[in-house]
Amino acid sequence: MSNFDQTLVLIKPDALKNSLTGYIFSTLSEFHTGLRFAGAKIVHVTSMLAEEHYSEHHGKPFFPSLIEYVTGQIHFKNEPENQRVIAIVYMGRNAVKKVREISGPTNPEKAREEKPGCIRALGTVHLIKNEKGEITGDRMDNLIHASASDEEAEREIKMWFKPNDIPPSMHAYETRQSEQHFYYKNGKLSENYLPQSVCILAPGDIAWKSDLEGLQKIANNQPSSITLQAIIAKYLVNENRNEM
Ligand code: CDP
Ligand code: MG
Repeated sequence: MSNFDQTLVLIKPDALKNSLTGYIFSTLSEFHTGLRFAGAKIVHVTSMLAEEHYSEHHGKPFFPSLIEYVTGQIHFKNEPENQRVIAIVYMGRNAVKKVREISGPTNPEKAREEKPGCIRALGTVHLIKNEKGEITGDRMDNLIHASASDEEAEREIKMWFKPNDIPPSMHAYETRQSEQHFYYKNGKLSENYLPQSVCILAPGDIAWKSDLEGLQKIANNQPSSITLQAIIAKYLVNENRNEM
């Protein structure tokens, strides 16, 4: 535990739809939690970022519905401009535990029973049905994501935020300056520019050390513990390229 403990919060599309953003910010404010903002951004969530963020749930019955939910396709079906979340890094002693407690249990019905007053007590549960109309699971629209452990917080903060999105004095994880170019196109990483590729990093850019090491391994065809998508997803959000 240290003053550098950090946690990732996502204000999910159902919270934006129901105008609960201010309520969530107030509930998590420094006055109530002792936690400070380290970073905040509006993110148009791509399915790449959503699938990487929730990779532990891949293959579960609710996974496709969860991806639709967090990418805003359920609450803002025909409003692509509103398909977004607010991502925040909170920092301070015990950040993960404090925000998890205020958020409450994953299932909003359970949250209402066990912890009335927690944020997720205001959420809803929807049955998921297959083409035949049979119930295959349930989707929990629970307004907020909060990292579940310090390890998850590190993985998630690095996945959603570039180092430069966070003031240097609030960096909790090691960074490095890139000495080379990395480009991305059609699922592949390249050290050389190809037409329509996206420049992920250029010499002089600051990256998370673990991301840079992952990119170097992937570029050299060596096994990497982090996937290419998990590293680059944050570089591809909020892009406005018709060809992407
Ligand atoms: O978010 P949390 O860590 O509390 O729960 P999780 O078990 O990691 O699940 C991630 C998210 O998937 C939840 O916050 C829910 O939005 C969603 N979920 C769902 O829709 N249906 C379930 N049966 C379980 C989870
Ligand atoms: Mg979780």
